[in-house]
Amino acid sequence: PLVSMKEMLEKAKSEGYAVGQFNLNNLEFTQAILQAAQEENSPVILGVSEGAARYMGGFKTIVKLTEALMEEYKVTVPVAIHLDHGSSYQKCAEAIHAGFTSVMIDASHHSFEENIEITSKVVELAHFHGVSVEAELGTVGGQEDDIIADGVIYADPKECEELVKRTGIDCLAPALGSVHGPYKGEPNLGFKEMEEILNSTGVPLVLHGGTGIPTADIKKAISFGTAKINVNTENQITSAKTVREVLAADPDVYDPRKYLGPARETIKQTVIGKMREFGSSNKA
Ligand code: G3H
Ligand code: ZN
Repeated sequence: PLVSMKEMLEKAKSEGYAVGQFNLNNLEFTQAILQAAQEENSPVILGVSEGAARYMGGFKTIVKLTEALMEEYKVTVPVAIHLDHGSSYQKCAEAIHAGFTSVMIDASHHSFEENIEITSKVVELAHFHGVSVEAELGTVGGQEDDIIADGVIYADPKECEELVKRTGIDCLAPALGSVHGPYKGEPNLGFKEMEEILNSTGVPLVLHGGTGIPTADIKKAISFGTAKINVNTENQITSAKTVREVLAADPDVYDPRKYLGPARETIKQTVIGKMREFGSSNKA
């Protein structure tokens, strides 16, 4: 069923695993991620950036597509449709009214007080509709759609505590050195701060920029309260590689099903691998 992230993440935090957020880019991503979740008997979060929503035909289209595919595939595992990096109260409200079950309000580039003010407004509306809310502090590096960061700013544990207390968010993404897109070298995650933030806030933590983080760091993050890990680029890279291989192997291929079908299978296998790594398999 379509559910919010609330129970999903509380369960993951208390049982010591993380639920993957896998971002949608098109029909094949949506199919592959839902199939992987059902096969792995894993809860799953479908991440939708504002850019991806524009590309796929808007929030409503994505909700209806997801519902139709869940019916077609007889999906019984918990699925959340989550607005990724919502840029404003307005965008979050649009997603909620279109049927999203979860939203992220990314007001991390505003002043701390403004972040609290915007996030509180989103929480009020979201909770009225049974929708969960994720907020962010600090800056995730790299680029994702419209979100470009020129530097990585680590979240301040004191601010995290205050934000959670004053807004009532369901989970928190403290930027602690993670990057959207591939890492240049090894990631340097702030585990000391992560532990501090876990202890002071008590809410499930979210790790953005899940592509390219070594398994040892993934396990460590989970042990420090990370209950949600976002992955997009890895699925994009592996599926693009498959498309390149198929087209290179046979210059006569032109039917999109002949190259997008195999790409979809690659995404599915990549997602299954992540679910096993994050420990969410058989936790539905
Ligand atoms: O919000 C989405 C993620 O943080 C994705 O990060 O593209 O580096 O896997 P990634
Ligand atoms: Zn992100």
